[in-house]
Amino acid sequence: MWGGRFSEGPSAIMEEINASIDIDRRLWREDIAGSKAHAAMLAACGVISDADNKAIQKGLDAVAGEIESGQFKYDKALEDIHMNIEARLKALIGEPAGRLHTGRSRNDQVATDFRLWVRTACEQSAAALRDLCRALAARALENADAVMPGFTHLQTAQPVTFGHHLLAYAEMFSRDASRFDDAARRMNECPLGAAALAGTSFPIDRDRTAKALGFDRPCANSLDAVSSRDFAMEAMAAAAITATHLSRLGEELVIWTSAQFGFVQLSDAFSTGSSIMPQKRNPDAAELVRAKAGRIVGSLNSLLIVMKGLALAYAKDMQEDKAATFQCFDDLALALAATTGMIGDLHVNRDAMKEAAGHGFSTATDLADWLVRKLNMPFRDAHHVTGAIVALAEKKGVALEALSLKDLQSVEPRMTDDVFDVLSVDASVASRTSFGGTAPANVKREAKKLLKALKAN
Ligand code: ARG
Repeated sequence: MWGGRFSEGPSAIMEEINASIDIDRRLWREDIAGSKAHAAMLAACGVISDADNKAIQKGLDAVAGEIESGQFKYDKALEDIHMNIEARLKALIGEPAGRLHTGRSRNDQVATDFRLWVRTACEQSAAALRDLCRALAARALENADAVMPGFTHLQTAQPVTFGHHLLAYAEMFSRDASRFDDAARRMNECPLGAAALAGTSFPIDRDRTAKALGFDRPCANSLDAVSSRDFAMEAMAAAAITATHLSRLGEELVIWTSAQFGFVQLSDAFSTGSSIMPQKRNPDAAELVRAKAGRIVGSLNSLLIVMKGLALAYAKDMQEDKAATFQCFDDLALALAATTGMIGDLHVNRDAMKEAAGHGFSTATDLADWLVRKLNMPFRDAHHVTGAIVALAEKKGVALEALSLKDLQSVEPRMTDDVFDVLSVDASVASRTSFGGTAPANVKREAKKLLKALKAN
């Protein structure tokens, strides 16, 4: 492509370090769409003839057909997807192919292709997140009244419902989806026509190409258009946050499926066995989802560091943007699909959850609240009295509700029988009707609300 200036070809190592075709061939659809829009615009603006445009359009369709059907021969010597496609176009249609690159450079070309790709990745990630939210909300509705221990510090804290716990993740994943929506909206400006870095002297119509490719408008500054990769950083930042959330759910699935917890069982479809221990049922998918967070955060980090300190405008360093980004979204798509799959056919062991919910004096706060309500005690005093009752129960080796009224009265003489109404885990969760609280009635309402909102999406 630049034979005019050079008398010798590159060394094999130069070719190896320079070529990106093995990675960026994934941009072929975007590259062809960008070239078609560019050629049509050039013809509409009178920069190339209609006949040349027609030949280019037809030729690009033919190239797309070859790639689609797997006949296309990629050539490393042609460096990247842009030059591979253009070279093939030249072979197919001859002279008009040489006019396609008028008023354009690979710098704005790759920036455009990559933005289109990342925009799609954002849309797909948001859609996959909403599928996961649907699965979570559906399971939450079924399990609105399934009581489980709620934890802080992984120590039993207060009873919650499993549905409530699932909806906590649905909240996180809903925000994650909206982060991808925001990122896609912000990146939706078209670099095409910025040319190498300074714009072009040809009378091009950048609004036209922007519109043809589904962008809201052209990028306003040609230097920014070819130099910026913050659209990919932002998308990967959204991916990293999502992956962090997924990893927490993955970790909980690992904990919940352990013999010691036994709260849930993963379906056979999402479990693996052991080659030596016949009894084993391993939560590999959950563990791998947990691990994907490391890779995804690594991908974001990789691009941030590649871009750090780069002087404007384009530098070849930026070619390394794609491997990290493609990897990031491949990992994310898989982690999301696996999580949605696991949640969708999770077997919930309500009895084990409920049994565990009663351990660890989980309704001690309910007892303290009762003292406040019934005896008008300041909460701090109620906390102290309850602490003494818990110590007594611990000494006797029984649960709070197994203490006798006499036992309770030995600590606080004004205690009455109706205190037992608040000591069960069911009563505890049922009473937490404050907005955002874990009461089954709340969970049912919120799960339905979410399912309805997701239907509109
Ligand atoms: N393959 C290159 C990349 O992905 C395309 C842009 C090349 N531009 C250049 N001036 N060498 O960054």
